[in-house]
Amino acid sequence: MFSMKTKWVKFASDEKELNELLRGKECMPMKVNSKAVLLVKHDGEYYMVKNRCPHQGYRLDQAHCEEGAIVCPWHKYSFSLETGRGSGLYLENYPIEKREDGYYAGFEYFSLF
Ligand code: FES
Repeated sequence: MFSMKTKWVKFASDEKELNELLRGKECMPMKVNSKAVLLVKHDGEYYMVKNRCPHQGYRLDQAHCEEGAIVCPWHKYSFSLETGRGSGLYLENYPIEKREDGYYAGFEYFSLF
């Protein structure tokens, strides 16, 4: 029987390191769990999304945020940072958890058990 599980991967030790990763920008491409992701800081909250637009597959390196959504620089489609939904498409996103020892991103996967 298949089930969905979440693998939590630590990507920063504290908020100082998070801000160093962002280098003062709103969006920063990086690799976490061998995936190309985009770390986003918008309205004081951190988000992580797949760095590939679901419209035509271009990278979101130069994306910006507006009213809780990330806007793709190529054709201006926007996707909710909370749900990934927008423009009839879905941008994969990864929850971020703050724990005692740092910040973790959650990646879902199918498991046989
Ligand atoms: S590739 Fe992102 S909106 Fe078209």
